[in-house]
Amino acid sequence: MIVAIDGPSGSGKSSVSRAVATALGVGFLDTGAMYRALTWWCLDSGIDLDDRDAVAQAATRMPLEQGYDPDAPTVAVAGRDITAEIRTTEVSTRVSAVATNVLVRPVLQQRQREAMAAIAAETGGVVAEGRDITTVVAPDADVRILLTASEEARLRRRSAELHGTTDDAAVEATRDQIVRRDREDSTVSQFTVAADGVVTVDTSDLDFDGSVAAVLAVVRR
Ligand code: CDP
Repeated sequence: MIVAIDGPSGSGKSSVSRAVATALGVGFLDTGAMYRALTWWCLDSGIDLDDRDAVAQAATRMPLEQGYDPDAPTVAVAGRDITAEIRTTEVSTRVSAVATNVLVRPVLQQRQREAMAAIAAETGGVVAEGRDITTVVAPDADVRILLTASEEARLRRRSAELHGTTDDAAVEATRDQIVRRDREDSTVSQFTVAADGVVTVDTSDLDFDGSVAAVLAVVRR
């Protein structure tokens, strides 16, 4: 069972995908974590993020290990656990420069296909989430879902995640980060319409359990 889930920031794709993988008893792959890990590695090793060739070479060489347990996914590079480091504001604000590098994308997309195949071989399936999984990385997946939510719902969720509150100041601070990243990512991912054969699940009015149930309903139909 190969499940591909795409969606924008705050759509719930990461937490929902993990819960879906747990329910199905299969492994989980967070492809955004790969772009984040590459960003972290370049920053840590002094590679200029604007040097497109150097970053693409780093994408090929990066000694990346991802733990596929949906209850505790981990990311390590060269043996160092960077699960927390890849979520810092510095990485979040710079990841789009790496993700929009046209020399990087095919390298990571290929590594994602290989990771999905390896996880599926180990666990009997995989839930992979990102921004181009349903369209580019795994267009042949058994189930393809676009998880969407209104901008307000996405901002509230990300604000609660990042700041632990949804008061006005927190939502505005989140808006700055999220809206800017969506804009920076817009050359590689747009979520206004689902691609052919991709099922849209709108989570604006669903809570977490409702979102998981809605995705599982699509998987099981
Ligand atoms: O934090 P958020 O859920 O928005 O994003 P993420 O899934 O951690 O992905 C971080 C960044 O990686 C995105 O903003 C994109 O720039 C990039 N990305 C991508 O280009 N393609 C993917 N399949 C996944 C992520």
